[in-house]
Amino acid sequence: MSVNGDSIIEVDQLVRRFGDRAVLDGIAFNVHRGETLVIMGGSGCGKSTLLRHMIGSMKPTAGSVKLFGEEITGMKEREIERVRLRFGMLFQSGALLASLTVGENVALPLFQHTKKSPDEIEQIVKRKLEMVGLTGFEDLKPDEISGGMKKRVGLARALALDPELLFSDEPTSGLDPIMTAVVDELTLKLTKGSHMTAVVVSHDMTSAFRIATRMIMLGHGSIVAEGTPDEIRNSLNPEVQQFIHGRADGPIPLNLSQEEHKDHQLVRPRPFLGGRFRFHHKHS
Ligand SMILES: Nc1ncnc2c1ncn2[C@@H]1O[C@H](COP(=O)(O)OP(=O)(O)O)[C@@H](O)[C@H]1O
Ligand SMILES: [Mg+2]
Repeated sequence: MSVNGDSIIEVDQLVRRFGDRAVLDGIAFNVHRGETLVIMGGSGCGKSTLLRHMIGSMKPTAGSVKLFGEEITGMKEREIERVRLRFGMLFQSGALLASLTVGENVALPLFQHTKKSPDEIEQIVKRKLEMVGLTGFEDLKPDEISGGMKKRVGLARALALDPELLFSDEPTSGLDPIMTAVVDELTLKLTKGSHMTAVVVSHDMTSAFRIATRMIMLGHGSIVAEGTPDEIRNSLNPEVQQFIHGRADGPIPLNLSQEEHKDHQLVRPRPFLGGRFRFHHKHS
């Protein structure tokens, strides 16, 4: 475990119940500056729920989440907005606004949170789209592009404000192996070159081992295993081995009932930005 640098995220005794079911049941870990932490675990084990608590869009049943040293669990929306300026979030679905073009989606945080001119913003949008391999797609609407492209637009938007911390939920799911490698390379470039810290949820093991400096495996509401990629690879825990090798047989219970599955699909991540901010400077 890395002891270099300070903790920019501290999660302690985090509990989240839905009804009487504890999806997160006393989770504790820290994220240190500069590391890329991959959170893995089976579908429905609570990875997205954990991320939503880390960005303050869900309140825990109990426990604490500190970002950059500040407790966010008790914060009002207004205060959380201030903390959100320091991190980017790529949602599982991309969470693009359907009525805006690709370019407008990427521009949104810049219009909302900076005083840059429309020309400057256009240049930044161009650069961010170029980073994710989408030069020239500015004027298309989200429903005119593929799922993988939506994801990359979501990434460009998450990077629009050059955040020091990036959260991404399944950034490579639905991407072909080449695009997966492109997104992974980009994550590595940002974390290694620009010292960005990243927290990435992934069940793509190739991608996870490519980018992680540390890994956490979630299961049964708890942390099943935690360590460097090598430690995880060599873990003697049969659940870890089953998961990283994608075996059908093993100790991991197949617990997604039809009903849970339905719930799971109904859960829609909430975008940060309301339409009311659309294209108005915050201080104008
Ligand atoms: N808002 C919610 N209301 C009720 N149940 C929820 C809600 N959000 C998530 N869950 C449940 O919590 C469990 C974990 O969901 P999720 O965090 O999306 O899993 P993962 O991202 O690991 O696939 C699922 O069983 C899901 O149905
Ligand atoms: Mg999820």
